[in-house]
Amino acid sequence: MKIFIKNIKSLLMTIPNEVPFVEGHSMSELHQLNDAWLAVEDGLIADYGSMSEFEGIEDWRNLTIIDASGRFVLPTWCDSHTHTVFAKSRAGEFEDRLRGLTYEEIAQRGGGILNSARNLQAMSEDDLYTQAFDRLNFMMQHGTGAVEIKSGYGLTAESELKMLRVIKRLKETHPITIQSTFLALHAIPEHYSGNVDAFVDHMIQDVLPIVASEKLADFVDVFCEKGYFSVDHMSQLLKAAGELGIQGKVHVNQFNNLGAVQEAVQLGVRSVDHLELISNDDIASLKNSKTMAVALPGCSLFLEIPYTEARRIMEENIPLALATDFNPGSAPNSNMNLVNSLACIKMKMLPHEVIQASTINAAYAMDVHETLGSISRGKKANLILTKPLDSISEMFYYFGQSPVDGVILNGKVERSID
Ligand code: NIG
Ligand code: FE
Repeated sequence: MKIFIKNIKSLLMTIPNEVPFVEGHSMSELHQLNDAWLAVEDGLIADYGSMSEFEGIEDWRNLTIIDASGRFVLPTWCDSHTHTVFAKSRAGEFEDRLRGLTYEEIAQRGGGILNSARNLQAMSEDDLYTQAFDRLNFMMQHGTGAVEIKSGYGLTAESELKMLRVIKRLKETHPITIQSTFLALHAIPEHYSGNVDAFVDHMIQDVLPIVASEKLADFVDVFCEKGYFSVDHMSQLLKAAGELGIQGKVHVNQFNNLGAVQEAVQLGVRSVDHLELISNDDIASLKNSKTMAVALPGCSLFLEIPYTEARRIMEENIPLALATDFNPGSAPNSNMNLVNSLACIKMKMLPHEVIQASTINAAYAMDVHETLGSISRGKKANLILTKPLDSISEMFYYFGQSPVDGVILNGKVERSID
């Protein structure tokens, strides 16, 4: 199957194939080609160029032609941090919060992650799979072409493995490219309360080896936070996973800065996520490292906590990515378009910076940058065709709406333009 997209108003993110991510200072320099065409073959980006230099098509058989007049074409969004497999909403806790309780207070009463874990433990693998599949369809319709999904609502060996098997099935069956993360240390189950070390040992010694031998995870993760897991617990997990060849991605600096960023960077994590709080030492450790900083503005909005200081991070030339953190407790939103608008409005990121943060940098944060995240010959043809728009800024200006019209994944039209 071949697709030829012609009359593209502007083709965005035409960076060289080998660029793994874009550093902070360069994020405002968007590579683009105006009045362009793009050809898709065998699921990949075959070629692109400008309409004025177009020399015709050799073989018109089996070719779908799309006229993209007035529209931007760009790589699909990569969402490098989600908890898409969960059993139930926590809308009851949402009401509690509206009445004045905080996220921490709800968690202390046995709500929060423990609430999600009870629901998940009770739900069958098939039901979890079907629900998550539908959620992925919504994300795809809104322009997301790659999603990282974490376990972490299991909290027992059995339920964590159940979650990871669901993610594996989604990987095998959904057109979105999926990466799987074993969120081994997310919350302390009730029967381990007062005995956190024993739970950490159990996850590292008993569960992690099974996850590794069954190849159920691309990454491991930990919620490093007061009342949850310490920097030392994080290090133990990252070291054990490293010995098994699994890299880390970590939840750090959401409510408190425990000094986890420096340790995580030193241990070679792929990304440090949240960073609602950040110190000069954290900044220094991230500079020139291979670790991506990931901001989650949907979580800041929903919990009314500070937004990650994107400008400060980018001014230090540190690369930054954006993700939804889609989960039932702190960020029940899976729409990257809203995240992108929030990054502009609340974090003062410029539209050009947002596009790089949500494509190539996000692809790097989930280790799919070699096949996704830019318009490069030979990468997967995962493409967004926007609605007809006057400018790039209009993509994020209509916040809460979607600029996405057409979606192509793996060279197949998943959503046609109107
Ligand atoms: O990324 N911080 C920990 N994990 C999630 C929240 C999970 C939940 O509340 O269910 C987060 O914000
Ligand atoms: Fe999270």
